[in-house]
Amino acid sequence: MKLFNENLILADVVSENHLLFPVINRLGVNLGFKNSTIKTICAENKIDIEFFIEIINVFNNENYFPQKKLQQFSVLTIINYLNKTHEFYRNYYIAEIDKLIKQLLNNDNIESKVIRKFYQNYQNELIEHLKFEENIVFPYIIELSNLDVKKLPAKMKINYSINDFEKEHSNIDNKISDLRNFIIRYLSVSYDNNTCNSLLSALFLFEKDLQNHTRIEEKILFPKAKFLEKSFTTK
Ligand SMILES: [Fe+2]
Ligand SMILES: [Fe+2]
Repeated sequence: MKLFNENLILADVVSENHLLFPVINRLGVNLGFKNSTIKTICAENKIDIEFFIEIINVFNNENYFPQKKLQQFSVLTIINYLNKTHEFYRNYYIAEIDKLIKQLLNNDNIESKVIRKFYQNYQNELIEHLKFEENIVFPYIIELSNLDVKKLPAKMKINYSINDFEKEHSNIDNKISDLRNFIIRYLSVSYDNNTCNSLLSALFLFEKDLQNHTRIEEKILFPKAKFLEKSFTTK
């Protein structure tokens, strides 16, 4: 498995896998890399270089997921990245898929109506999911990470639990694959192939991105939060 390291030229890395471009944006790097190495760019932008390298490698290799190493990064570093990812989903994938669905399914055929309805429900659910994490779950975990175990009274009771949320942490990437499959199987010949192609590509990329995102939440952030909860409740 090929892993990127800090001495590589960032422009070469992005040329090798252009799907990393939005990922490095979320990590705090914008255009204008020139011939700088990852090390220089991270230093210039005050980015945690270890985190940067791990995230681009996780994204570049489906089979690379150093769980223990990723869990060592601070709650703030991880949440900052997840929040930026949510922002990207709203501004790019959701907006783009929305536009393509309207363009492709611009008629009263039954399959168009079904897909539009399915997508609308999915989009509402997805936006709720993002909001709930941003407004409730992430601030709760940040608060946990700021608490000082030594200063808390014994047997402190925490009202909320990450377990409660985890049970409800619906699989938002499954529904997008249902949508993709429905389009592939049931759209008739009267639809525009080029628009359909653009929509399928966007759905496919979004699905992959979401799988990665969910993996970081469920395998890195939530276990860290559970560990913090445990350290308070078993005191
Ligand atoms: Fe999320
Ligand atoms: Fe989530």
